[in-house]
Amino acid sequence: MSTLRLPGLIDVHVHLRDPGGTHKEDFATGTAAALAGGIVAVLDMPNNSPPVINAGSLRAKQAATEKAHCDYGLYLGATENNAAAVARLHDQACGLKMYLGQTYGPLRLVELSAVMAHFREWPARRPIAIHAEGLALAGVIALAQAHNQPVHLCHVSRAAEIALIRAAKERGAPITCEVTPHHLFLTETDAQRLGPFGYMKPTLGTAADRDALWANLDVVDCVATDHAPHTIAEKEGEHPPPGVPGLETVLPLILTAVHEGRLSLERLVELMRDNPARIFGFAPPEGEIEIDTTAQHIISRQGLHTRCGWTPFEGTSVRGRVRKVVLRGKLAYCDGEVLAPRGFGQPLYTQRNLAQ
Ligand code: NCD
Ligand code: ZN
Ligand code: ZN
Ligand code: ZN
Repeated sequence: MSTLRLPGLIDVHVHLRDPGGTHKEDFATGTAAALAGGIVAVLDMPNNSPPVINAGSLRAKQAATEKAHCDYGLYLGATENNAAAVARLHDQACGLKMYLGQTYGPLRLVELSAVMAHFREWPARRPIAIHAEGLALAGVIALAQAHNQPVHLCHVSRAAEIALIRAAKERGAPITCEVTPHHLFLTETDAQRLGPFGYMKPTLGTAADRDALWANLDVVDCVATDHAPHTIAEKEGEHPPPGVPGLETVLPLILTAVHEGRLSLERLVELMRDNPARIFGFAPPEGEIEIDTTAQHIISRQGLHTRCGWTPFEGTSVRGRVRKVVLRGKLAYCDGEVLAPRGFGQPLYTQRNLAQ
């Protein structure tokens, strides 16, 4: 067997559904799935029910994190009228999340004045992470520049969007961006094949969109899963919610691309550890993962730790199986079993962890 060792990875975009959606996932199952995927820290999104938009709902989320198997940071959510209130809580959060398009959950801003209030109030040393597609994306790049506020652009998926990001970065816009494994490896053809199990926001693009993400990988800062579990019953229902799980499949998919010469291992570590920690301002947790790179295997729902129990990558042949994960000196995962107990996961934003 040939063994590859990498530092533990960081996923800056996950939805662990706790509290309010624990039939889909909770902090225990979601962080177990992370470890099984070689990910030692996750940043969890605020579109819970109720959403994480003030001190009380943040406390409820912090109580849920007591079940965590891996390390974590928490986003606060922007609403039309909570700009001053969330800004006061910034020390307890990895960033502010703003939804400028319709997606799963109740958080969406439509008024420019409300968006601008957040850009005025939110302290610039933590990023504002934004779900924006198309022209809305162009708008937030202008806001980032006007306010000199770091903005992290979530799940970039279209050729025109990545072209705009390249141009804006070349002119010094304070922006970073992430791409998801599903937008890197799937297209609208897969969406037809997968039906609701290939439905997410942003929707899957054309082959040209997918190819543009690869061709412009040098301006991409992070690969993030947007792990967004929904149950099979919900997906097969009359109004399937958008979102697909990704924590347990991202590393084998990206390692397969490394094997095919599409990116280097050094670049993988930049995209999935170094840049996430730098952009969100914490010291990456000390940890290492061990991967068997010999055998190809077929992705299957069998043995997944995510509560939703399915993957849009079922049947895909990949290279690279996570065998062991060590987190802060503890063997946290080994050959299918999560060994770090519930509660082993620590918050990333403690005094000790803050990057200089
Ligand atoms: C996400 C979810 O289910 O929470 N769904 C999705 O399709 N990506 C929300 C989001 O990230 O937009
Ligand atoms: Zn082997
Ligand atoms: Zn989104
Ligand atoms: Zn998301």
